[in-house]
Amino acid sequence: MTAPSTPAADGPLLVRTPDELRRALDGRGRVGLVPTMGALHGGHRTLVRLAREKAETVVVSVFVNPLQFGPDEDLDRYPRDLPADVRVCAQEGVDVIFAPEVETMYPAEQMVTVDAGAMGERLEGASRPGHFTGVLTVVTKLFQLVRPHLAVFGEKDAQQIALVRRMVVDLNLPVEIVGAPTLRDADGLASSSRNVYLDDAQRESALALSRALRAGAEATSDGADGVREAARSVLEEAAKATPPVELDYLALVDPATFAEASSEHRGSAVLAVAARVGPTRLIDNVSVSL
Ligand code: PAF
Repeated sequence: MTAPSTPAADGPLLVRTPDELRRALDGRGRVGLVPTMGALHGGHRTLVRLAREKAETVVVSVFVNPLQFGPDEDLDRYPRDLPADVRVCAQEGVDVIFAPEVETMYPAEQMVTVDAGAMGERLEGASRPGHFTGVLTVVTKLFQLVRPHLAVFGEKDAQQIALVRRMVVDLNLPVEIVGAPTLRDADGLASSSRNVYLDDAQRESALALSRALRAGAEATSDGADGVREAARSVLEEAAKATPPVELDYLALVDPATFAEASSEHRGSAVLAVAARVGPTRLIDNVSVSL
């Protein structure tokens, strides 16, 4: 049995296999898991800090999960920099980093997966078929391996956290799911690992996403259709910018099902947007109350 490797004397333990992970967590108190695909940024720091407030032991998983990428998506060029991720985790006082290889997580073809159901086929699921099956499957595997008391997910991926919450209820998984608010730059751009793909002009165009959401959130007194209209008009302008914002979807949905909110919808709703700027696909959302 080899001892878990550690990058620095007092830094987080970096473990690569389920055995190393079990030994690293043996005898530790309440465990909080922050599942990530690495390329850690300020948004991830928010998740880690929330985990730290609620748990004695913080585990960050770093795994770019092939199962959640479609054949034409950015799996190959997705940013990977484990040494930088280890530094961020060390600065944030993370206890354990679990960074398995693909072969460790998927030693054979994954024949049994978690079906995300109808909610998983809407919005992101419609644009990225199979994405949420991949997400829920890897999250379930991570829950089984880490056995956390709680797990922290970012609210930027609103449909993802809604599905994880639903999975935990429907499959009786003994994990508390904690949502962390979206971290934004001063100009409104939501923190995302994919922001590194944007050049200056693309970044400027990308600001239309958060602008559209703000416009929608300010129009709640006009009802569901008013919210959609206010956001859409910002995105129509942004489609004429250089480079253009190419809209994938803009939707106002019920937060529990992600089904489109009717014109008469009252109560809470999620205004969600996905768009391409150059080759980069970005998503963002805001919660509103109607
Ligand atoms: O949000 C992410 O980074 C990923 O979808 C997750 C939850 C780590 C699963 O691979």
